[in-house]
Amino acid sequence: MSRPLFVHSDSKILNRLNQESNGTALVTTSMVEALKWVTTSSFHLSGIFINPEDTHFSALKFLEITLAHRPALPIFLFEPNLGTNPEQLEKIMKSTHIQGVFFGTEPYSVLMAPLKQNLEPTEFPRKSPPKAAIKPDLIALPITDFSYGSHYPYDLFTFDESERMALFAQKGSAIDANYLKSASEKVSFIYVKKEDFEKNRSTLNLTRTHYLESDLPNAWKTAETLSNTKQMLDEMREAGVNDGMVEYTKTMLGDLFKLISKIDSDEGSIHGMIEKAKQCDRSVFCASYSVLIAKHLRFEKNATLEILGLASVLQDLSLYRTPYGDLTGKLQSALNKEELAYYLKHPTLSADIVSGNTDIPQVTLQVVRQHHERKDRTGFPHRIGGNQLHPMAEILSLINAYYEVTKSVNDDVLVIQTLQKETFQHYSENVILAFKAVLSNILLDKANAAKKSG
Ligand SMILES: [Fe+2]
Repeated sequence: MSRPLFVHSDSKILNRLNQESNGTALVTTSMVEALKWVTTSSFHLSGIFINPEDTHFSALKFLEITLAHRPALPIFLFEPNLGTNPEQLEKIMKSTHIQGVFFGTEPYSVLMAPLKQNLEPTEFPRKSPPKAAIKPDLIALPITDFSYGSHYPYDLFTFDESERMALFAQKGSAIDANYLKSASEKVSFIYVKKEDFEKNRSTLNLTRTHYLESDLPNAWKTAETLSNTKQMLDEMREAGVNDGMVEYTKTMLGDLFKLISKIDSDEGSIHGMIEKAKQCDRSVFCASYSVLIAKHLRFEKNATLEILGLASVLQDLSLYRTPYGDLTGKLQSALNKEELAYYLKHPTLSADIVSGNTDIPQVTLQVVRQHHERKDRTGFPHRIGGNQLHPMAEILSLINAYYEVTKSVNDDVLVIQTLQKETFQHYSENVILAFKAVLSNILLDKANAAKKSG
């Protein structure tokens, strides 16, 4: 049996679709989990419906992998913001191999309507081509891959008994169920030219390379930037830190800065990005917020990225592998006595790891060392304050304190009250003013978005 696959960040939508399909649809909030189904070659799929908001994985990378494993599979997009912009829609569909766009709120039956069934469902596993069916410069696709869908995505070819190649269908032509059925009685595989497939793949790759300049909606850009940043962090954890990794990090931070500048200026809606950064992890959270504040304070862009951005990413490196395991996910309030003793040294330990393995500027190291110090000398590890505290370290320290509060208190109003009561007095006025201005913009933006959708 072929099953549709739904990937959406909203689990309520997925639960409803699962119910309406009587449990036959495959549903997941994670692109990584979805790829397990896509790459299991024996598994029949009828179509994929994807919303690009999973910040743990790149939607464009997801599409590229899907294209490689299931070139014939119809793909659809959940994208609520494209209805008013058909031009943008057309460009995206062209570059991302997408056949249609839906709202997540639409009933299962409406989503299934374009998945025309051309062949009877089969109970047998999807076939991989045997050695004899493999041809040079061609990709063999099981003919059952065309069981669903309305048109052929490539020029397709077959071979007769005398190994003569013949055109089976032209790219874009409608799939005729009778024609496909009678062909499926004679052949198990049809062929696409590798060069045609590569053309599609390179268009997709080009979109990935220039995603910030392309016409993708902001949700895609945000997810792409955050998932790239997250991937870079994972690699850093695995491989340690070296100059190459630092260079790569700077590129990612440059993308983050560009994204923030764009969203903030002409298109509004920065809260969506920030909400997602919150879910990523502390480094991404700190990098996003501190870059926003530095922008508000009109700090020079390169210095912001090189000092503050980089320090945000490197600040907790020493917490990934400690004698007490990975402490990065734990809040300071949840640590036991021994863990806390180690934790209180982590700014210095992180700076030591970085300085031992890279040529990072001294000023960035200073900000890493001071990322939990406070202006009134109540921070740690050295109770540095006053003029000794670097202004960017002060920003990073405040954002770290803010992060801790958002993790223990859910409500926006309560978060601000807690900060007012416990945090703001430890920092200088201009940093607090900038923080409040940035935060109120984000909250205003969030309220406007809520009004629009509700
Ligand atoms: Fe830290």
